[in-house]
Amino acid sequence: MNEITVADPDEHLGLPGWIYSNPRFFAVECERVLAPSWQVVCHLSDIPRAGDFHTFEFIGESIVVIRGRDGVPRAFSNVCLHRGARLIDGPTGQCGRIVCPYHAWTYDLEGRLIGVPSHETYRALRLGEHHLPSIELEVFKGFIFARLAGGGPSVAEMMAPCAHELEPYRFEALQPFGRVTLRLRPVNWKNIGDNYSDGLHICVAHPGLSRLFGRDYGIEATRWVDKMWGKLVDEPSGNLSERAYQSLLPDVGYLPSDRRRLWSYFRLWPNTAFDVYPDQVDFMQWIPISPTETLIREVAYVLPDTRREMKAARYLNWRINRQVNAEDTALVARVQQGMASRWFEPGPLSETEVCPRGFARRLRALIPEASLRHAPADWSV
Ligand SMILES: [Fe+2]
Repeated sequence: MNEITVADPDEHLGLPGWIYSNPRFFAVECERVLAPSWQVVCHLSDIPRAGDFHTFEFIGESIVVIRGRDGVPRAFSNVCLHRGARLIDGPTGQCGRIVCPYHAWTYDLEGRLIGVPSHETYRALRLGEHHLPSIELEVFKGFIFARLAGGGPSVAEMMAPCAHELEPYRFEALQPFGRVTLRLRPVNWKNIGDNYSDGLHICVAHPGLSRLFGRDYGIEATRWVDKMWGKLVDEPSGNLSERAYQSLLPDVGYLPSDRRRLWSYFRLWPNTAFDVYPDQVDFMQWIPISPTETLIREVAYVLPDTRREMKAARYLNWRINRQVNAEDTALVARVQQGMASRWFEPGPLSETEVCPRGFARRLRALIPEASLRHAPADWSV
């Protein structure tokens, strides 16, 4: 990932509409923005035993993260070395070794080729010398990240400005809550991210969050992470779920007092976010499928807490955010449609829109065509 060293003449402008649907731009973006970016696959607690695995599909690649006999999680290309067949199906499972369903080529949990039927008939094939391609993996506070192409900073380096804020939440000890949400949306992936880091719309378009936070919604852009936060107000909301959440949310003893009623959001460049609540931690990714299709993947994690009020708070949190998601879905669809208008020009960004500014600046630095008002002639569909 390039560092931004030059002044950006468009720093007060948003991004042009054509890059939210253009296939050529999408292909360039996959190479320069998405392949080098860190993606959450799962948490260590999702694969506790040797042979437990999670697969992850991203921009045409299939990755498997699997726990080895030595306890170490590793990431491999989920593609057989023989004929290129996909090896492991399904998002998650357990195996003693990896056997290709096509010709039964077999790999151990460390990715070594250990079995080939009639292997003496393959000239110069030596078992043990071949290995599934390794994919770079980093465990950050218990979450397993992988990236297809290397070279940029580590997750820990990118998250460093917020590490002290995340520390009290004990990410390492989180357990899967069993709630995995996959939502396919007919929009460009950047539109989901733009909306996620948009602080200006909260008081306009999210009445529930406005009732919960009042007018105080914080936003801050660090180099790689956008931070947003709101503190629950004391005044009871007029909405039943919100009022119940306000009153039932129990004290979480391990959190400092100023975080016990705080909802905070950390969006990691370019398409991953952690929603950090006193009662749970969700990660969210917007996974590009095509220039105009995105899969939103959201998985919830919690620390064990058997209190009835905590159980209720987790349910109410889901109810409240289900409504927020419905509101955002409508807004993002509205923007996706409008961006395709022949008259849409990049709009001005306020001084306070620090997160959209940061995203646009970084994207223009990586793909200079993102400054053009219209697609270059030979990039047109
Ligand atoms: Fe929103």
